[in-house]
Amino acid sequence: MVKAVILVGGPGKGTRFRPLSLEVPKPLFPLAGRAMIEHHIKACSELNDMQEVILIGSEPTSDISNFTRKVSNKYGVPVTYLQEYKPLGTAGGIFHFRDHIRKGNPNSFFVLNADVCCDFPLQNMLNSHLRHGRDDVITVMGTEVEKAHSALYGCIVSNDANSNEVEHYVEKPETFVSNTINCGVYVLGIGVLDHMKEVFQELQSATLSTDCIQLERNILSTFAGTRKLFVYRHNGFWSQIKTPGTAVFASQYYLSRRRNEDAESLAKGPNIIGDVLIHPSANVSSSAVLGPNVTIGANTVVKDGVRIKHSILLEGCQVDQHACILYTVVGGGTRVGSWARLEGTPTAVNPNKPLAHITNPPTFNEEGKLNPNITVLGHNTNISKGTLILNSIILPYKDIDHSHKNVILL
Ligand code: GDD
Repeated sequence: MVKAVILVGGPGKGTRFRPLSLEVPKPLFPLAGRAMIEHHIKACSELNDMQEVILIGSEPTSDISNFTRKVSNKYGVPVTYLQEYKPLGTAGGIFHFRDHIRKGNPNSFFVLNADVCCDFPLQNMLNSHLRHGRDDVITVMGTEVEKAHSALYGCIVSNDANSNEVEHYVEKPETFVSNTINCGVYVLGIGVLDHMKEVFQELQSATLSTDCIQLERNILSTFAGTRKLFVYRHNGFWSQIKTPGTAVFASQYYLSRRRNEDAESLAKGPNIIGDVLIHPSANVSSSAVLGPNVTIGANTVVKDGVRIKHSILLEGCQVDQHACILYTVVGGGTRVGSWARLEGTPTAVNPNKPLAHITNPPTFNEEGKLNPNITVLGHNTNISKGTLILNSIILPYKDIDHSHKNVILL
């Protein structure tokens, strides 16, 4: 039997996702009509031996409990939220709730970062992990990225293609170590919890005593080179989701998966281009041209002659006649006046570079100006008729009646 832990972080994490995370915790932000971590839960529920999916984080329970109820019913697997009393690091919560994880005697458990987007080949990964026949080993999913970007991630050195043993692991190194990186998806044998106890005791007795444990620095780095850490090489799609721009990119991937798995759920019609998902309660004019890569949330109204592409509109928005929305995320309850134009700069990977992945450029450049990125409107914003908003971030509850370019409106 197996369990899964999803690391959902807390209110202090995901700051690059603001202002969208002011409306909904980042792990619940909708991508192709499902919460970011619902994709993880769906993949976990497809494993026959999955006993329970445990979300660990420091978000208030009230913000998560409706979601756990809903997905438990939908996917037929118990989904539990365990709240840390403070952020305990990527392994501190796992250690703190070890008795809960052990209940029901699973022999191993997955650990999944909430902010990754992937096709989650969990069964293959588990099979590869179980081949070691030991309960004190870890398998980490690795993928190759461009050399220039590898230092943004945990870097994995494994030269033995047969055993896939990891000889060396460095978290976000300062110089080049390897272009095989940690995808934030792991299988841990249940015995690793005993090792965490030793790490915890060491950290408690250190000069700067702490109850925070980092899976990457405190566990993976020490397991490397001891035949206890193995890499599962993943060649499929994988991306981090750190910014609204990467969320739009991830949404495009998850919509394309829906096309293959559940094409009926996507919109069809003469004015629909590529993958478009419209919530059944939304009201979209047949003369609006939507797509590719568009998601329209519940109760959102899109009027005649509107054009939308590469954008996510959350619940309860209204887009008036002939407005144009390109590369933008529109927060819930926002009103976009007629002939307004919202436009951002796409976040995309170079298709000619096979190892290229989305990177998350800093919000500001060296001169303190906004780097070009998608446009983001916080929830309950009001954009007046004919206004142009280009490459900008607008915080919630703003009434905007002037055009803006490359700004953050606080
Ligand atoms: N429960 C809990 N408690 N979750 C946490 C905490 C914590 O104190 N700190 C972080 N997390 C969660 C985040 O919400 C996120 O889902 C995941 O752990 C990763 O956290 P980050 O601290 O943001 O790390 P990162 O994304 O920069 O790097 C990690 O992921 C990369 C792949 O995306 C590392 O594991 C890298 O090695 C890896 O390459």
